[in-house]
Amino acid sequence: MQLQVNNLCKNFKENMAVNHVSFILEKGVYGLLGANGAGKTTLMRMLCTLVTPTSGTIEYDEEDIKVMDERYRRIIGYLPQEFGYYPEFSAEDYLLYIAALKGLKPIIARKRVNELLEIVSLTKVRRKKIKTFSGGMKRRLGIAQAVLNNPEILILDEPTAGLDPKERIRFRALISHIAKERIVLLSTHIVSDLESIAKEILIMKEGSIIEQGEVEKLLSKIKGKVWICLVDLKEAEELRSMYLFSNERNCGEKVELRIISETKPSVSAIQIDPALEDLFIYYFGEVNKIADFEI
Ligand SMILES: Nc1ncnc2c1ncn2[C@@H]1O[C@H](COP(=O)(O)OP(=O)(O)OP(=O)(O)O)[C@@H](O)[C@H]1O
Ligand SMILES: [Mg+2]
Repeated sequence: MQLQVNNLCKNFKENMAVNHVSFILEKGVYGLLGANGAGKTTLMRMLCTLVTPTSGTIEYDEEDIKVMDERYRRIIGYLPQEFGYYPEFSAEDYLLYIAALKGLKPIIARKRVNELLEIVSLTKVRRKKIKTFSGGMKRRLGIAQAVLNNPEILILDEPTAGLDPKERIRFRALISHIAKERIVLLSTHIVSDLESIAKEILIMKEGSIIEQGEVEKLLSKIKGKVWICLVDLKEAEELRSMYLFSNERNCGEKVELRIISETKPSVSAIQIDPALEDLFIYYFGEVNKIADFEI
């Protein structure tokens, strides 16, 4: 089970949305981390054969997916970023409908739909119309439709967007559960979604994969560069204008800043172990800009 991407490019006129990307995915969960516009959706749509690459190839177990064609499409599951559903359908009818589109036999489809409704905790509301569902319920339904055909490759584009922290925890457990025996690639800009479930992280910036590896390996890049500083308001303001910071917390009269810096940023600074959110800031943060992402 190996998905290999070789020198993949996608241009939209002069815009290189995906720029000479190469990587190999094997069984397990991979996180595709990148800021808005990095090229994540374009890359994923190429992996799902929905966008034709400008150049480069994608191979599954050493066979070009263009040659595999329908055989490849049968083993792919996809949750799009903009997940379209049918608001008047019930969860159950919707899944049965998608199962029919995917060519599942009715008896198998019914069994699989029952199983999946249970796995995504929608059994109780199976007959309710989708338009009455919360964002989290719709996302879980989206994941269920993506795995209907028991795909070997599962592509999830921002599956946690708009979910509250409780739904996110539930989602992580769900992904771990359905990820067994598959290649799962999931994109996000919410780093905490990946920390406990991703085997490897791919960091995408401006169309290129700039890093790929296990969380620990990537974190070793910024080891010794992450600091906690407990300072007064005036010093906090100075530090914010000079350094990258990945978090801040009010502590009464003082502020606790989490700073990424090669050198000790303040006399009070204490070095701490890096976390994935620090790495995200290291690659994507800009000094003097307020962090505008969720951590
Ligand atoms: N159909 C299209 N036509 C023209 N340009 C496109 C098209 N799709 C994407 N792009 C451009 O390609 C680049 C990458 O977009 P893409 O949607 O792949 O990024 P992303 O990493 O998924 O972003 P986000 O986090 O906002 O979802 C952007 O500059 C975008 O404007
Ligand atoms: Mg996207």
